[in-house]
Amino acid sequence: MTPLGIYVHVPFCASRCGYCDFNTYTAEDLGPGVDRVGFHGHLIADIGLAAGALGPREVSTVFIGGGTPTLLGAGPLVGILDAIRRHFPLASDAEITTEANPDSVDRKMLDVLRFGGFTRISFGMQSAAPHVLAVLERTHTPGMARQAAGWTRDSGFEHINIDLIYGTPGETDDDLRASLDEALAADVDHVSAYALIVEDGTALGRRVARGEIPAPDDDVSADRYAIIDDTLSTCGMSWYEISNWARPGAECRHNLGYWHSADWWGVGPGAHSHLTGERWWNIKHPARYAALVSEGASPREDGETLTREQRATENLMLGVRTREGVALADAGGDKEGLVRDGLLDASAYAEGRAVLTRRGRLLTNRVVRALTRD
Ligand SMILES: C[S@@+](CC[C@H](N)C(=O)[O-])C[C@H]1O[C@@H](n2cnc3c(N)ncnc32)[C@H](O)[C@@H]1O
Ligand code: SF4
Repeated sequence: MTPLGIYVHVPFCASRCGYCDFNTYTAEDLGPGVDRVGFHGHLIADIGLAAGALGPREVSTVFIGGGTPTLLGAGPLVGILDAIRRHFPLASDAEITTEANPDSVDRKMLDVLRFGGFTRISFGMQSAAPHVLAVLERTHTPGMARQAAGWTRDSGFEHINIDLIYGTPGETDDDLRASLDEALAADVDHVSAYALIVEDGTALGRRVARGEIPAPDDDVSADRYAIIDDTLSTCGMSWYEISNWARPGAECRHNLGYWHSADWWGVGPGAHSHLTGERWWNIKHPARYAALVSEGASPREDGETLTREQRATENLMLGVRTREGVALADAGGDKEGLVRDGLLDASAYAEGRAVLTRRGRLLTNRVVRALTRD
């Protein structure tokens, strides 16, 4: 059976970073009707509703994301995991991740999470350069992610990820190299690196619109991607998805489920779910979400059923992002032309697969457009 992943969304942050448009709320912008304290009770109620709808299906991965899940505290996070265990058979080798901000954990908390069954922590380090962290409006200081990764290793976690953001205005090549050195010195087995996206409606978006800071430059970001890919591959981490590098065996199975169009159930405000071609998403605001689940009602806002063609296109768009790529037989367009243009790998092509070259990874939209032509 297709593996099932459970995603749990924790919609709280201590403060909002200027670039972020995720569904997350600080204490000030949360409004009445809901409180961070005790919110895990609503998530646990939602897990019960999911179990009622799904039946006893084995769960192979759990990912608690946000927001800042660790703001709930270790006990409530373990409580959420225990609820999943009570309602579902959890695979004996299940991968269980929580995201964390480097300044939202301490050694004791990590011990409790590990003892409670978590196997993987993902830290949002973003950069090691103080002026880059300042533009991003991060609350942690350089060095905190490395210290937190050290505690995580000492607590006995199997896997640790560090998220980086590159291409921030004011970042230099050397700043990025220093961030990569810091991530490598933290001895993590996984790095996610994202080009900074300036989202409309964010503080960063407004500053860029006012001309206060320049927008990220695509050519600079492409050069930085090459630095990341070269540095990490030299140090034993290979790319396995456009923005993700891992040591062998440390690939994030939960996220692979998204790219392989597996099944996942999203718990929490605004969380998305996908079960064999049916997709839906929950009410976004935590207060309305909490009111529904506490009455035993589904927090689902809306959804859609994909046609066979839509599913095929989606499988292709997501699958081609991975190192495995997609079968040539499942793709349309001038695939040979893409090999000639250096966008698809020639040896994978000879074996019947469409796999992106590094140039292809930088021009994924163009490749996807070409592969989805008849
Ligand atoms: C939503 S955050 C949750 C993790 C945690 N709250 C943190 O920030 O440390 C997950 C990751 O998404 C990435 N991210 C969020 N907004 C982004 C943006 N506008 N551009 C690029 N990356 C972004 C960051 O790398 C961040 O670590
Ligand atoms: S801490 Fe993470 S989730 Fe929260 S605002 Fe910053 S990037 Fe977004």
